[in-house]
Amino acid sequence: MSFPIETVRAQFPALAQNPDLSFFDNPGGTQVPRRVIDAMSHYWITSCANVGGAFATSQRTDATVAAARAAMARLLGTPDPYEIVFGQSMTALTFHLARSFGQTIQPGDEVIVTDLDHDANVAPWRDLEAVGAVVRRVPFDPKTGQLNMAALEAALQPGRTRLLAITAASNALGTLPDLKQAIRLAHAVGALVYVDAVQFVPHCPTDVTALDCDFLACSAYKFFGPHVGVLYGKRQYLESLSPHKVRPAKNTIPHCWEQGTLNHECLAGVTAAVEYIESIGIEMMQAYEATLGAYLLDGLRDISGATIYGPGKTERVPTVAFNIAGYTPRAVCEALGAAGICAWSGNYYAVGVMETLGLTEGAVRIGLAHYNTLAEIDKLVDVLQSLPKK
Ligand SMILES: Cc1ncc(COP(=O)(O)O)c(C=O)c1O
Repeated sequence: MSFPIETVRAQFPALAQNPDLSFFDNPGGTQVPRRVIDAMSHYWITSCANVGGAFATSQRTDATVAAARAAMARLLGTPDPYEIVFGQSMTALTFHLARSFGQTIQPGDEVIVTDLDHDANVAPWRDLEAVGAVVRRVPFDPKTGQLNMAALEAALQPGRTRLLAITAASNALGTLPDLKQAIRLAHAVGALVYVDAVQFVPHCPTDVTALDCDFLACSAYKFFGPHVGVLYGKRQYLESLSPHKVRPAKNTIPHCWEQGTLNHECLAGVTAAVEYIESIGIEMMQAYEATLGAYLLDGLRDISGATIYGPGKTERVPTVAFNIAGYTPRAVCEALGAAGICAWSGNYYAVGVMETLGLTEGAVRIGLAHYNTLAEIDKLVDVLQSLPKK
């Protein structure tokens, strides 16, 4: 397969600006292509105004918001752009939705979270304990990084389980849980499903219609766009739940869920980010990343003293967590940083993952994107290999 890596990289000014850096903190937030930067400044120059006014720049802002909704509907696979809600971040949107969902909780109702999830898809649901919900945790296998589907099935209780909160892709281990099966199991007991797709959307084709999930949240700065959270919700649930809103704000979806004035310039960037992905093709990106991910795993296996966590070369996203014997994760990242390699260490808010693995200081994380190269991975492996043995 040939992937147009040079053409791709040429579209990212930050990559050209920092030719000596290899950027592997993509799960923390990706770089941004020129068209996103241009779209945002174009908005400010041509359209800067609030929505709903009787003048040209306001009407252009209305069009900017509508275009972003249509773009996100395409990216996530719903025909209905009004099922797309924008907000500050995935975390803020999840707290927002969970708070409204909490109004429907009866004492003893159950909510399920997983130990593979980022805390943004755990803490908002744990908060429902305050309104009488029982929160159950589904573990994952520390050897394989795979979600324990038998434990999930056992936790789902007909009539009692109201919601399953589940990740589509782990931001620590790169695991892809069997989402379709989890959703089927949850629906079979009458539970709704809230999917955290923050680390899925940048790497894999997303189709909320085929998945049949009830909610799915993601974040544009993880897929080459600006800092905007995006929530898909089935129309019936967005309409039946009551959002916390100011009285004059519209009562119709999706507006009733959008608190305050949206970040219009960022929405111009969201449209451009979606168009960027469409211009390459998410399947092309996914196939290239699979090659990079396998190469990374092979390289890390050659490092003496390295412990790699999570799934091996199975279907996964190219995010890999590991430690090197004798080094704290931070010390490894400092050595990498000094060599021009950008990588993260710690728990990356994947609290349940690090608890399960018993890693109090977390792990080093290399998270690849489609603009990374085999040569960058070679450099990473060389630096790790040159660390003095301890
Ligand atoms: C898997 C996952 N979920 C949720 C979040 C939170 O996203 P946001 O920063 O938009 O709140 C992150 C951020 O790293 C993440 O990796």
